[in-house]
Amino acid sequence: MKLGERIHGGLHGESRDGGSLLRQPRLYALTTAISFGGRRRRIYDDLVHQSGTSLGDRVLDVGCGPGYLTGRAALAVGPRGRVEGIDPSPEAITDARRGAPANTSFQIAAAEQLPFPDETFDVVLSSLAFHHIPPENRPIALREMRRVLKTGGRLLIADFRPPRNALVRRLVGVLGGHAMQHNPVDQIPDLVTAAGLRVSGQGDQRHWLRYFTATHP
Ligand SMILES: C[S@@+](CC[C@H](N)C(=O)[O-])C[C@H]1O[C@@H](n2cnc3c(N)ncnc32)[C@H](O)[C@@H]1O
Repeated sequence: MKLGERIHGGLHGESRDGGSLLRQPRLYALTTAISFGGRRRRIYDDLVHQSGTSLGDRVLDVGCGPGYLTGRAALAVGPRGRVEGIDPSPEAITDARRGAPANTSFQIAAAEQLPFPDETFDVVLSSLAFHHIPPENRPIALREMRRVLKTGGRLLIADFRPPRNALVRRLVGVLGGHAMQHNPVDQIPDLVTAAGLRVSGQGDQRHWLRYFTATHP
């Protein structure tokens, strides 16, 4: 096994359909906190803000991992709002439930089959999870996100933008795996449009985190 596979495989394991599931949520939380250089809270709060999440909203966090974004969104919706996190990794969900705010709940589920009725949420969020979904399933996942959004609801997807420098990109491959190294993040708007949503904006947080916003018309 190559070094990169060993490092990436230490954090993630392969799902049945070729995606990658978080296996070491504690270690992941630590490495992400470090890679955001002390600015994770500010950056995630800004993602929540850019999504238009507000007091009283019902929000879904897709691929929530250990639930950091879920927790930040929970603050933004206040005690009358509610945030649900889903992730197919049982380890991630167990970790996310530990000490989670009272207005959050978590379920083991994949983006391709969201366990919620149509038009449940005001906002759907997803950070650093989209590239973990197998490419052929991404359109299915986006259709699910649209299905569970209320009419007029909002979507924000933030994902890793691979660096242009070939050497740095190779290092990303070693640490984060193939899907991260070659993440076609700029295809997201076309996929979002094809799923029946209207892209409303985009931006960068740091040079490596790109986000897109959309509405359910
Ligand atoms: C890098 S973590 C991101 C966690 C969190 N959203 C964050 O910003 O820190 C990616 C997460 O996507 C999850 N994932 C993998 N396949 C998925 C799928 N098909 N649907 C939803 N989540 C998935 C993994 O288990 C993992 O917890």
